[in-house]
Amino acid sequence: MDTNIIRLTSENTTDTLSEAAALLQRGEIVVFPTETVYGLGADARNPEAVEKIFEAKGRPFDNPLIVHVSDTTMLESVAHDIPDIAYALFDAFSPGPLTIILPKHPSIPYETTGNRETVAVRIPSHPFAHALIERAGTPIAAPSANRSGKPSGTNLEALEEDFTGIVPLIIDAGESTYGLESTVVHVTPSDIVILRPGAISREQIAAAVNLPVRDAKSSDAPEAPGMRYRHYAPNAQVVITRNLEERDRQIQEAHREGLPIAVLSFTEEMPHAEVPVFPLGSRTDLSVYAHTLYQYLREADRMGAVRILVPEVDEEGLGAALMNRIRKAVKST
Ligand code: TXA
Ligand code: MG
Repeated sequence: MDTNIIRLTSENTTDTLSEAAALLQRGEIVVFPTETVYGLGADARNPEAVEKIFEAKGRPFDNPLIVHVSDTTMLESVAHDIPDIAYALFDAFSPGPLTIILPKHPSIPYETTGNRETVAVRIPSHPFAHALIERAGTPIAAPSANRSGKPSGTNLEALEEDFTGIVPLIIDAGESTYGLESTVVHVTPSDIVILRPGAISREQIAAAVNLPVRDAKSSDAPEAPGMRYRHYAPNAQVVITRNLEERDRQIQEAHREGLPIAVLSFTEEMPHAEVPVFPLGSRTDLSVYAHTLYQYLREADRMGAVRILVPEVDEEGLGAALMNRIRKAVKST
């Protein structure tokens, strides 16, 4: 299959929207930008179209997809019995990187929800994503745009690497703003359960609603099924370094063994040794780490690094999502 790559500009946005919407309406899949990471989208109501997503990603069929809607009216066409607390959360964080698990409306086929009675719904804030949903006139099912198991696609290089020859259209709108996926939550009458930490932090959610917010660790909460699978992993081995002594020891060891490595480092903690470094901005603002993590993991692979040293951060704010992704990348290498 020929893959058409369109670099989005203000001049071509209208034509690109028409082209992408037409493909979605014909049951095709399209790589499109969102504010978190790129999505691999299909008409959420069309089971054959949704199956193409699973094939293109190599994704297990029981791992459900997020359904992207443009507003609360469309939300009510994909979910039912929506609790007040879910409306309060959408009010506080949408459009934006928050995904809520809700009872599935019959219009959404089981192919989209991995045979579940629930559906994950998100209202993206990226202007192109929003306009595409409206133009296509249908909710868009979209997982992150990456081959299953690899870091999510956040720039054109990653998208070309994974989907050239596999999808008819890739829409390039530059690097994703957040660089980490949305936060996935499940609401119960008494609390909010974080199934996947993400771009919206637990602290932000707790500040917005008057309910306890907890992580899905205990057996009473359904963990996001996707979190079971191999994830976010480059080919190189990912090593978390807890402090600078540990990191510098790792660098020396690699030098002794003649191993090509790469180091992710905060600007105030740059290594003195001769070693390829990817800068993370300041430790006081983790948004740069979030924005660049997936991109750096892929770049380190392209450079031929066999080991990537990444700094540990406190698991608060964006740090919780970062450490969640990094630990999964470690486990699977
Ligand atoms: O930021 C994002 O969320 C991106 C952009 C494209 O919107 N999408 C994304 O989708 O990260 P994906 O498929 O890579 O991750 C969706 C996560 C998976 O862990 C999946 O198992 C979980 O959400 N999920 C989806 N539907 C669910 C459901 N009905 N119940 C529980 N978890 C669900
Ligand atoms: Mg994903």
